[in-house]
Amino acid sequence: MYPSLCFPDDLEPASFLRTHWQKRPLLMRGALPGFSPPIDAHELAGLACEPQVESRIVREQGPSGRWQVKHGPFDEAVFEALSEQGWTLLVQDVDKHVPEVAALLERFRFIPDWRLDDIMISYAADGGSVGPHVDAYDVFLIQAEGRRRWRIDTRPNPSDACIPDLDLRILRDFQPDQDWILEPGDLLYLPPGVPHWGIAEGPCVTWSVGMRAPSWRELASAWMEAVADDLARAGRYRDPGLKLQDTSTEILPEVFESIRERIESALRTADADQFRARIGALLTEPKEHLELEHRQPPWSEARILDSLRRQGRLWREGASRLLFCRAADADGHDILFANGEVHPLAPGSGDFLALLCRQPGIEADEILPWLSDPKRAALLRRLFNDGHFSVAEDDID
Ligand code: SIN
Ligand code: CO
Repeated sequence: MYPSLCFPDDLEPASFLRTHWQKRPLLMRGALPGFSPPIDAHELAGLACEPQVESRIVREQGPSGRWQVKHGPFDEAVFEALSEQGWTLLVQDVDKHVPEVAALLERFRFIPDWRLDDIMISYAADGGSVGPHVDAYDVFLIQAEGRRRWRIDTRPNPSDACIPDLDLRILRDFQPDQDWILEPGDLLYLPPGVPHWGIAEGPCVTWSVGMRAPSWRELASAWMEAVADDLARAGRYRDPGLKLQDTSTEILPEVFESIRERIESALRTADADQFRARIGALLTEPKEHLELEHRQPPWSEARILDSLRRQGRLWREGASRLLFCRAADADGHDILFANGEVHPLAPGSGDFLALLCRQPGIEADEILPWLSDPKRAALLRRLFNDGHFSVAEDDID
């Protein structure tokens, strides 16, 4: 459905990762030749009217450059009232709502799934933009329709100071040193922190394949919390060897030392599975507005298997986020992470888990042989009833 991603010169995915990923921008002319978006501006506006879809309209008003943002869901009348100029509609996570859009992610599988966030689609009227800004994540900006002028600042350590008192983060001092007009099928890759400003030259549509990366604060607290839970079992600080001290108000160095040693030893000796469980859960945590719908009433295993045999496949739901890891050692487990839930399986299940995680769904022929194992079949049932998979319309009563 989508053309293959064409890298310029003699780049290919591995060399792109080596030379550009997280390091420097890359303009890829004709990266997706003949790219033909499966969703038009009206459908995009329709999505922005739905309550479970995250969207916003950004406008720059008047020569004083007052930037305004309004968040969806929108009423249809909002679009009728917009002028011909100077606004942008941005819809987040379109891949979660439109499978034909999600299919483009197949072209970006040279990046691990846990780093992929979403496809955001923007429609801009002539002159529309979201202003000069920096993003905290890598992004692949694909020109889908029309033309957009991109200017970026590739100097080291650019200022990230923003105009005060705005609902948007707009750079106060944007000094571009590169300037291009992107045409349909062109792509601009930007690593995090590069100031950029894309202004529509006539109405245009841009797709942003955005990455995600957890903050060190999130990672550390996910892990520290687990260790703290473990330590909680040890109860409270104890000092059966307490000795007389000269000054009762002094906290002696050995007290600090013993507390530090106890916590560091808990961190050092914590179980590898537990570490992976906490981190994997964090990495698959769904966004608030992208919850799965649990199947009510739940289906029995027999019914799921029967449907799988008859339909030939199960489809993945857009909001389903499945990732897995293999056991760290012989005592460990292979683990499936499913929207923040953790499902450990016996080691040797990695290929089965990889199959479960496959997009856009699972082929019956491939998965059925694995399901003679009751634990694996039970896991599929759990995922199915949690809403990760769907079956063809006519199978639902
Ligand atoms: C847009 O699509 O208008 C903005 C994308 C970006 O600058 O990150
Ligand atoms: Co941006």
